[in-house]
Amino acid sequence: MQFAARPISFNSRDRAKGRPKKGCADRIGRQGKICSSTCTIGATSLPQKATASHEHHLKGPHGLQSDQTGMVDQAFNPQSSAKVALPYHHPFAVAPMIDWTDRHCRFFHRQLSARALLYTEMVVADAILHGDRDRLLAHNAAEHPVALQLGGSNPLKLAAAAQIAEAFGYDEINLNVGCPSDRVQSGTFGACLMKVPEVVADCVAAMKSAVSVPVTVKCRIGVDDQDPGPALDAVADGVFAAGADALWVHARKAWLLGLSPKENREVPPLDYDRVYALKARLPDRFIGINGGIQSLEEAANHLEMVDGVMLGRAAYGTPAVLAGVDATFFGAPPAPTDYRALFETMADYATRHIAASGRLSHVARHMVGLFHGYPGARRYRQILSTDANRPGAGAEILWRALDAVDLSPASAAA
Ligand SMILES: Cc1cc2nc3c(=O)[nH]c(=O)nc-3n(C[C@H](O)[C@H](O)[C@H](O)COP(=O)(O)O)c2cc1C
Repeated sequence: MQFAARPISFNSRDRAKGRPKKGCADRIGRQGKICSSTCTIGATSLPQKATASHEHHLKGPHGLQSDQTGMVDQAFNPQSSAKVALPYHHPFAVAPMIDWTDRHCRFFHRQLSARALLYTEMVVADAILHGDRDRLLAHNAAEHPVALQLGGSNPLKLAAAAQIAEAFGYDEINLNVGCPSDRVQSGTFGACLMKVPEVVADCVAAMKSAVSVPVTVKCRIGVDDQDPGPALDAVADGVFAAGADALWVHARKAWLLGLSPKENREVPPLDYDRVYALKARLPDRFIGINGGIQSLEEAANHLEMVDGVMLGRAAYGTPAVLAGVDATFFGAPPAPTDYRALFETMADYATRHIAASGRLSHVARHMVGLFHGYPGARRYRQILSTDANRPGAGAEILWRALDAVDLSPASAAA
């Protein structure tokens, strides 16, 4: 598929109304039919948009039921009154992280926060189209709201993959425009798409045509020697004109040559002001910020300037931080975490996973950072990193690990 580079100029009225850019669907559709369930747009064939709405009842921390759709977030409004109220409302998200935010991790994080938006690892569109969908897309009903992140740059394939994911029950489909993966060199997806905003817009338009759930994008502020001013603006204007519901911005560049993915999360300097400036220019669009945010206090400060905050490594490495999310951002009454209840839930979950031929370590590895700073945390980590890996390890190892931690109020306060 060829994409001719072309200057983008968008009508601000279209942008404000979130209309798909005219012509996107035509361009995509001319590539042909992509799956058995199709609808026709002019001479085009795109996956038929699902109409069913998704309402999910969340099983919140420690078994409390809350109705996601009913709890519109009026109790806490992180946005100043000057800000426009937006239909997409996710003030707090846990970032997509390959190898980390798998379904077991998300289930665990959900026990700590009923309301945070949880992202999957990136899944390549081709894998969904040709691979084992159940393995790639299955998730637990408790995970909602959960967003699937897709990797790819072929609008037709992304649209088809998005449609399949929607049928699996995902609440949002996100496009990865920030990952400096190995395959970036071949230009197939990720951060290199920052250089071709028109392709990103085409992808979003196709995905929007295929699904009813929100379609969002996660990007960088630029790559390589791009000027983050026009580079980010072009991507943002393109995706919103194509109908995107939100843009999450990792507030640093990616350097495609010479840095590993890990270095690309650390070396290029953070530029939060660039993301704030984007939000100031697009007040009626959801702009979320990501990168280097360590605490809920920092997150709350960012929310003065943008609509959402996404934590990656801090949420994974010290998951206890998630226990404060509902009270800080969603108006839930502050409550101490009931770790015994949490471990009941996780032990039960792990037992069911093991009974289905899984291993305890698949679950336990995500819980290793939980008691950071508590007396006994070292022993806790040791048990989860060694004993939980042994063949035949059962959920009782989780209890043994918990028993190693001194949870007395005095130790928590120390
Ligand atoms: C292990 C790991 C895997 C990651 N995988 C993805 C991914 O699949 N998709 C993505 O958009 N970003 C990915 N990222 C980047 C994070 O989503 C996030 O943008 C980055 O870590 C910066 O946020 P932080 O400073 O809060 O961690 C990954 C990060 C880590 C640490």
